[in-house]
Amino acid sequence: MKIAVIYGGRSAEREVSLNSGRAILQALSSYGYEVCGMDVNESLFDELKQFKPDLVFLGLHGRLGEDGAIQGALEVLGIPYVGSSVLSSALAMDKVMTKRVLRPLGIPLAEDRVLVSRATPEEVDLERMTNDILKYLSLPVIVKPNREGSTFGLTLATTNSLLKQGIKEAFSHDESILVESYIRGMEVTVVIVGTAHDTQNPPRVLGTIEIIPKAEVYDYESKYGMNGSEHIIPARLPQNLLSQVEAYALTAYTELGCRDYGRVDFIVGDQGPVLLEVNTLPGMTATSLVPDAARAAGLSFEALIDQLVSQAYQ
Ligand code: DAL
Ligand code: MG
Repeated sequence: MKIAVIYGGRSAEREVSLNSGRAILQALSSYGYEVCGMDVNESLFDELKQFKPDLVFLGLHGRLGEDGAIQGALEVLGIPYVGSSVLSSALAMDKVMTKRVLRPLGIPLAEDRVLVSRATPEEVDLERMTNDILKYLSLPVIVKPNREGSTFGLTLATTNSLLKQGIKEAFSHDESILVESYIRGMEVTVVIVGTAHDTQNPPRVLGTIEIIPKAEVYDYESKYGMNGSEHIIPARLPQNLLSQVEAYALTAYTELGCRDYGRVDFIVGDQGPVLLEVNTLPGMTATSLVPDAARAAGLSFEALIDQLVSQAYQ
């Protein structure tokens, strides 16, 4: 069986993707698959035509990789791929749209304001936007680009001046940004395998991880630096809270129609769990969460990748 692993790409998360892709390639090779790694560039479609893969394993993250764009191209080419469909990927990549889908289901979400501007980050009216935010939310807040990953462009704003800087920074990543009330609490993520509405392979929790970042927020350095954070599996939550987080994660994953695997991130604060986002192509690097959840469940990373292949290609 021939599998193409597509990784790299043009998103801010390119470096992360290169590491995820390498790990996936290595795992597939160890199971004897014929593999070929491909970067997202102008020769991608020629390479796919030449290699003729039976399946594509996406090692991409962020825009044009995790947002349905490449999934759409593969649908047009008729090549099956591991992971969520065009629509699910697009919805999950867009945090504002994710929240619109999940809010009516009663899943707790942070209070927020969404700002959209087609002006350049330099031309954005920061004074007006800051005043607008402060009418609805009180500091501290988290400012983030709507469609971005690995905490690129994210600011924890504790002062008006940091809020202004954060808005400008987030707008340098996306024309739509999200400002959310900051919730202090435990970072928890739920790794899910399975496919929404598939009775043979229903969504189930592979592991629920407590993350202890070295920094105040679980930022890029905490995510990918050596010893940047500690992962504790299962998260040290009282059983009722753990079950609640897992139930919210499964509902979110199912309602967005996710396929094969994914990761749902939360903060558990004084008021209980708050869902932050759903990742349809979560990191697979040496410091990432999915490989750790697999190991804690008694499954090597290689075996997990093999399992995902078997489920996606039937
Ligand atoms: N966006 C990164 C890759 C993650 O969620 O793991
Ligand atoms: Mg993400």
